[in-house]
Amino acid sequence: MVHHDGFQTVKGTIDWEHPMYKLYEKAKRNGKWNPADIDFSQDQKDFASLTSEEKISALPLIAGFSAGEEAVTLDILPMAHALARQGRLEDVLFLTTFMHDEAKHVEMFSRWQQAVGIGQMDLSVFHNDDYKRIFYEALPDAMNRLYTDDSPEAVIRAATVYNMIVEGTLAESGYYTFRQIYKKAGLFPGLLQGIDYLNMDEGRHIQFGLYTIQRLVNEDERYYELFIKYMEELWPHVTGYVAYLTELGKRQQQLARTYALEIDYDLLNRYVVKQFNIRKQQISRAKRVDSVEELEKTLSEAER
Ligand SMILES: [Fe+2]
Ligand SMILES: [Fe+2]
Repeated sequence: MVHHDGFQTVKGTIDWEHPMYKLYEKAKRNGKWNPADIDFSQDQKDFASLTSEEKISALPLIAGFSAGEEAVTLDILPMAHALARQGRLEDVLFLTTFMHDEAKHVEMFSRWQQAVGIGQMDLSVFHNDDYKRIFYEALPDAMNRLYTDDSPEAVIRAATVYNMIVEGTLAESGYYTFRQIYKKAGLFPGLLQGIDYLNMDEGRHIQFGLYTIQRLVNEDERYYELFIKYMEELWPHVTGYVAYLTELGKRQQQLARTYALEIDYDLLNRYVVKQFNIRKQQISRAKRVDSVEELEKTLSEAER
């Protein structure tokens, strides 16, 4: 029979200094935006003014993001389930905001697609095999395992796929790409505003992932090797997907009669590599901290 041994807030209180409690506070303060309040009327006019080649060039990235946000919304629950079983109250408090954030991200993209008139278009043709490997398979597989297995290996695997690869490498690079293309072109102010909100939310999500992996690596340094192994295993699919988008974009540019959008693909490719390396460096820092308490202190100081 499932039962609780006791309750933290009956024996005492929430740990107000816990880094995940602090992150929960931050989420309540900074996560108040509402996708329904974003005005997409200029985006609608902008989209209508593009040539058909320029219109098509926006679709692969939108297809990647819409499905990505939907996948992370559907797949976050097992993480909360596993950490709840472990009695990690502060982590679970934070995760209540996490799932709500992801729901708003799905809503934001869906509203935009509807506003510019591509709401009923099937964009799944832009998901290549590498994208599918990550979002259709590795992510749900790693997350759903947490329902029955909350071992450090399983938690590290889930946080690596979800927070370090999907959010920390792909989503971060995606925001950068959106800004590079559409801010420069003076297009889609509503979408760019939404992306700014998303970016802020994702910063907290990545911090959760870093904390979760770091505290386990700090307990046993062998988990660092495991983390690196999972990162390296997924890396070919990250580069495979980015190469596919690059190839597609360049071909669209060549075929277009008129094409006003400026896209620096080399810069984007370098950015993805940089994000991937930053995540590895951030986790490797955990090896130099002597205890979980010290790690929590370091992270919560970085929060201030
Ligand atoms: Fe998201
Ligand atoms: Fe996220």
